[in-house]
Amino acid sequence: MTTDFGIDLGTQRTVICAGKSVVLDEYTAISYETHTGELIAAGTDAYNMLGRTPRSITAVCPLKNGIIAEYDLAESMLCAFLKSVANNKMFKARVMVAVPSDITEMPRRSIYNACYAAGARDVCLIETPVAAAIGLGIDFTTPRGVVIVDIGAGTTDIATLSMGGLVQCESIPTAGNAFSAAIERYIKREYNVLIGPHTAERIKKQIGCVIPRPLELTVTSKGRNQFSGMPQTFEINTNEMITALYDTAMTICKAISGVLEKTPPDIVGDIASDGVLLTGGGSALFGMASFIENYTGLKVRVADNPKLCVAKGTATAIKNFDLLKNGDYRFKSLDEIIMN
Ligand SMILES: Nc1ncnc2c1ncn2[C@@H]1O[C@H](COP(=O)(O)OP(=O)(O)OP(=O)(O)O)[C@@H](O)[C@H]1O
Ligand SMILES: [Mg+2]
Repeated sequence: MTTDFGIDLGTQRTVICAGKSVVLDEYTAISYETHTGELIAAGTDAYNMLGRTPRSITAVCPLKNGIIAEYDLAESMLCAFLKSVANNKMFKARVMVAVPSDITEMPRRSIYNACYAAGARDVCLIETPVAAAIGLGIDFTTPRGVVIVDIGAGTTDIATLSMGGLVQCESIPTAGNAFSAAIERYIKREYNVLIGPHTAERIKKQIGCVIPRPLELTVTSKGRNQFSGMPQTFEINTNEMITALYDTAMTICKAISGVLEKTPPDIVGDIASDGVLLTGGGSALFGMASFIENYTGLKVRVADNPKLCVAKGTATAIKNFDLLKNGDYRFKSLDEIIMN
């Protein structure tokens, strides 16, 4: 029997599905002994060590903006993940991995190689928005246009789809991490306080917004004064969030417009009646759908289960290749990759 896994190898989270079940949902992180390289943890345990390790331990996120930045570490992490879900049946496993829609040849190869090295037999790559549409059960095999915007941590993937394939797509390095970085910059500028990415992310999830909230919220947090170097407490509210996050939200809107401008007018006509679907963890930012609606004039809806639909789509696509018509969607073995 062959084991098939669908993998959403995200900048921040890796989700693996087998059939309809989510079999792994972990942060994309790894930690190891600095001198020996020995693995300490892969996944959420490693993520919790980020920025808090002694010199003898190194913890990193091996992906940056949706592609592998540290190959050996990504391979070890993937190996640990696949072992934990496969009960040593990896010699038979086929995997389908979601990748940013306009990924170039070198990062594609890195993902293929990391999967083979982690034990997979055959590997197929699929663009994130295509996987998201399949995960959402949208029929895009007909000549009717659909637009998907996946706001992840490292990339926002924007694509128009029709007749089982991509029509136009763009992947930009502006997503959830860019929102958190904008909060870090705002707090430094307005309060002279330096905070780390974890704190910025926590503030974003607690009170982040790009339109006014019905009730103004405030959080109190701590950082380091950039001049004195001493700990400092500060208070920040939702109105300040709107100011801090505006530019990043605009960058995403402009990229969506850019993709629509390059899409044939008939497909844009379909989109005008059906609207835009938002997926990815970044779509949970309060007001993001309304912000995009105001900018584009299109109806925008956040998908149910926005963080899982890409992984679910990859696992569904493995069993239903007929959904994928226009593109190079085939399982490739290591030999084939080496020969090309
Ligand atoms: N409630 C929330 N409000 C704002 N942002 C959120 C919320 N929940 C999650 N996020 C953000 O969603 C992002 C993670 O989303 P997701 O898991 O889709 O990314 P990823 O797949 O790992 O990244 P990528 O697709 O870019 O490679 C993070 O930046 C996280 O801060
Ligand atoms: Mg993603």
